[in-house]
Amino acid sequence: MTEPTQPFATSQTSKRFLKAVSGQVTDRPPFWFMRQAGRYLPEYRAVRAKAGSFLDLCFNPELAEEVTLQPIRRFGMDAAILFSDILVVPYALGQNVRFAEGEGPLLSPTADAVLLPRLGLGHFHDRLAPVYETVRRLKVSLPPEVALIGFAGSPWTVATYMVAGRGTSDQAPAKDWAFGDAGGFQRLIDLLVEATAEYLLRQVEAGAEAVQLFDTWAGSLSAAGFERWCIAPTAAIVKKLKSRFPDLPVIGFPRHAGVQYQAYAERTGVDAVSLDPSVPPVWAAAALQERVAVQGNLDPRLVVAGGDAMMVEARSIIEALRGGPFVFNLGHGFVPETPVAHVAALSDLIKELAR
Ligand code: CP3
Repeated sequence: MTEPTQPFATSQTSKRFLKAVSGQVTDRPPFWFMRQAGRYLPEYRAVRAKAGSFLDLCFNPELAEEVTLQPIRRFGMDAAILFSDILVVPYALGQNVRFAEGEGPLLSPTADAVLLPRLGLGHFHDRLAPVYETVRRLKVSLPPEVALIGFAGSPWTVATYMVAGRGTSDQAPAKDWAFGDAGGFQRLIDLLVEATAEYLLRQVEAGAEAVQLFDTWAGSLSAAGFERWCIAPTAAIVKKLKSRFPDLPVIGFPRHAGVQYQAYAERTGVDAVSLDPSVPPVWAAAALQERVAVQGNLDPRLVVAGGDAMMVEARSIIEALRGGPFVFNLGHGFVPETPVAHVAALSDLIKELAR
């Protein structure tokens, strides 16, 4: 097989989202929303009900394609995000993963010494083949002006689920391993760096035009821990991606990183950072936007509230950030109780912006 030619040329793209994440100021800010596909949409719940389990949905290319397209049809976002989950990576590495109704993810219990020998890249791409197929299908079915975002979890965040066997409020099991046996934990992180880069490269080969790394639990690390378990693995992944696809836009989301957003933007090599709702937009414009594009950061609970509270804050985020490269988004994903009408009003606000 010959080397694929660059599947995208962001310098020439007419897609608003790709322009913004590669550093250009656009006529109006492009927008998409984290968890834009999901339970707040009745048409998602209908597909979800016939798919079987949540992972069955992630691994059914036809249905995963359909739920990816649903929010685009309704609201006309500038980008679609592949429908999948960050926990398909531990599954493909050999860990048991299931989503229990009302309980969130459950992974096979793992004591440090037991986990690593059970994991490997042997069946990795075979298990993820349906995800790559979903990307290929979307490449054909998406409207031409809509960009396709691939994604993965960052090693630290994925490790917090792998080690605890479930979601935790304080990430204590992973921290205890990382702080108590840094060398052993490093081996898990190294495996995740390699797997995540491989996974994202395949998504790009299949048609993803930008990728986002979700580091949901970055903010729970100590300052030194952030350097070693968030910045370093992210930088290693970005390097692998860029050595193959130099122009691929990479977005990082080190949620709740606070002042460390700056170090993250300077040292990981990402093109854009996604801001959680606690980051003041005016600070981000001054501290980050010279270096990277920014994405964010409306509090998803404001979209539950809707009305003036939502509109006023959305406008002030846009005002603060539209002078530089900027993508309007939430600061975290939609929650299931979000009224569809509020999402429509928010989408209309952005679409009506003229420069
Ligand atoms: O629309 C999109 O944003 C794309 C799809 C997507 C999902 N999860 C679908 C999903 C993306 C990008 C993710 C990322 C993800 N998954 C993260 C990082 C971002 C974040 O939200 O912090 C994390 C930590 C996960 C792990 C995960 N997946 C948990 C903890 C849960 C259970 C909690 C919940 O909301 O149910 C999931 C399930 C999940 N992933 C759902 C969806 C639509 C809901 C499951 C269902 O439909 O039954």
